[in-house]
Amino acid sequence: MSGTGGYDQVYRRSMDDPEGFWLEAARDISWVNPPKRALDAERAPFYRWFPGARLNLCFNALDRHVIEGRADQPAVIYESPVTSTRRVLTYAQLLDEVARAAGVLTALGVGKGDRVVIYLPMIPEAIVSMLACARIGAVHSVVFGGFAPAELAARIDDARPTVVIAASSGVERDRVVPYKPLLDEALKRSQHQPERCLVVQREQGPAELGERDLDWAVAMRPGAVEPAAVVPVEATDPLYVLYTSGTTGRPKGVVRDTGGYAVALRWSMTNIFGMRPGDVWFTASDVGWVVGHSYIVYAPLLTGCTTVLYEGKPVGTPDAGEFWRIVERDRVAGMFTAPTAIRAIKKEDPDGELMRGSDLSSLRTLFLAGERLDPDTWQWATDRLRVEVIDNWWQTETGWPIAANPVGVETFPIRPGSATRPSPGFDVQILDESGNPVPPGTEGAVCIRLPLPPGTLTTLWGDDDRYVESYLSAYEGYYLTGDGGYVDEDGYLWIMGRTDDVLNVAGHRLSTGSLEAALAGHPQVAECAVIGVRDDLKGQVPRALVVLKGADELDDAQTEQLREELVQRVRDEVGAVAALRQVDIVPALPKTRSGKILRKTMRQLADGDDAPVPGTIEDAGVLDRLAPVLRRE
Ligand code: COA
Ligand code: AMP
Repeated sequence: MSGTGGYDQVYRRSMDDPEGFWLEAARDISWVNPPKRALDAERAPFYRWFPGARLNLCFNALDRHVIEGRADQPAVIYESPVTSTRRVLTYAQLLDEVARAAGVLTALGVGKGDRVVIYLPMIPEAIVSMLACARIGAVHSVVFGGFAPAELAARIDDARPTVVIAASSGVERDRVVPYKPLLDEALKRSQHQPERCLVVQREQGPAELGERDLDWAVAMRPGAVEPAAVVPVEATDPLYVLYTSGTTGRPKGVVRDTGGYAVALRWSMTNIFGMRPGDVWFTASDVGWVVGHSYIVYAPLLTGCTTVLYEGKPVGTPDAGEFWRIVERDRVAGMFTAPTAIRAIKKEDPDGELMRGSDLSSLRTLFLAGERLDPDTWQWATDRLRVEVIDNWWQTETGWPIAANPVGVETFPIRPGSATRPSPGFDVQILDESGNPVPPGTEGAVCIRLPLPPGTLTTLWGDDDRYVESYLSAYEGYYLTGDGGYVDEDGYLWIMGRTDDVLNVAGHRLSTGSLEAALAGHPQVAECAVIGVRDDLKGQVPRALVVLKGADELDDAQTEQLREELVQRVRDEVGAVAALRQVDIVPALPKTRSGKILRKTMRQLADGDDAPVPGTIEDAGVLDRLAPVLRRE
């Protein structure tokens, strides 16, 4: 549906005639029962898209392309510098693996609507597992491999999976991380117990299997299993649950439907990202995050592109030139990663010498998202890559960009630091504290007028009330993004950062609550607060302020030991990815008279920004005494 006019026309139509707009977009999807209606608002604010329509997402991602002549085109190119492996799976080969994996799941008793938790590193089995679930109408819930047992256990207890699929280990830059013992530990902690665990054994670190465990390779042997046929599902049936961090320790299970997601992703790939069937697309993220779900797996495969699955880091595997070698080798047309990755490359290779060593002529566009794209990073990448570098802003909840420079429709002149324009379908409004729209140039809460477009969350898993309370209750008729920002006189959207206590560390979304819960579990800790402070490389890093039980003074050695124990606790409970390094022992935490810890004020002080002291502060002296500690690097 691209080429139907410039942005203004396309955007206007999405607002004025959403039925016509999305029914037309739906024609790019193959349906068992095509939709007759786009939006169902009968149970508003629980909107549903394409009621009555039926489809299968795996069919759209694989079978359809095989039928239409792409059987021998690479579907996935697995590039794994950490294991020195490169493997190409054509659409026909991927379909064969997925159908067998779906057969294995069926034989293990997984049926339509049952949940499967996937705890895998960036290996082809991750994509195979996700699509195998989609094939039989099971609901997958992928948990990022960098999360530790407590986080995994919380997700298992909430999703209540029939089967867990895990790997024996992950391979990081400098070490092999055993995943299976983390899964075993999580299952000791969780109340819910899956029937079986399917384990992908990796030669870099095999695991011992227990009674409940089944070796993936054994289960998948050709002949050992009957490949599963596709199971049509309702467009409104859930495809997956993806947990994300709020401010409390309890993760939120974002529910994604099937039909709306398929339509929106397929539309976005052409119109926002400007990709065509057959193009090679490389998203360097992780299947455990939303960017991985949408733009490593579903959108490129729905579009008939080739997707690169990268097991490695932007630097150190083996160096800052690896992304560019892949672009050359695989003739990548579109690339997507987080600004942090570019900052890491810039630090190692400031003059872009490693970049110049590769032929990047296939690359048309680099897309960056997951955190704020600072103008310096944008400029550096633009100067060296000599392609368009496009910021896009979105969230786990929305599944695809809320705002971007929609290169498939119209490319706007870039204003570094701005995510450009709202995507068609998203009615973005900036509201003041009373819920009234503010004039251009004025900062406020970035909200989206309901209904949200297709592809966005439909609710939180098993918790409709929390969905309404978290997102829809602040301003009647609006979805609250949790970000602050403004729209300028020319309609460009500028996102200034979270207004709540959600952390964003190297593009990874983490909750202050779960880090604080890990610290509070230490026997010497009376209370604590975690704030996210500015960091040149990771955008933000966590910093902990801890008040101890008892009045005993600790000497330097004892303080150091305690700090190490606290850092270790966060690694063990939340995961190494939290990257907590800085812990300060302080006499007290600043609070309001109602007992709320003033995290935002502490964060402003630590960042060296203006830090207005709230009138509701209980004891201003606490903040005065803390200020020198916070300002210290
Ligand atoms: N499994 C196990 N451990 C993991 C992991 C995984 N999947 N991912 C990260 N970790 C561990 C790392 O090994 C590291 O451990 P360490 O503290 O013992 O070294 C820790 O978690 C932090 O990892 P990371 O965030 O990758 O930081 P880093 O300092 O190793 O590397 C960057 C810095 C910038 C290179 C890295 O953060 C990066 O690639 N960022 C891009 C992020 C991204 O793609 N985000 C997705 C959103 S689009
Ligand atoms: P996640 O749900 O992990 O994708 O994180 C979503 C949050 O990351 C958003 O609410 C923003 O705070 C931040 N974010 C993502 N992309 C951008 C961007 N392009 N610019 C600014 N912030 C971003």
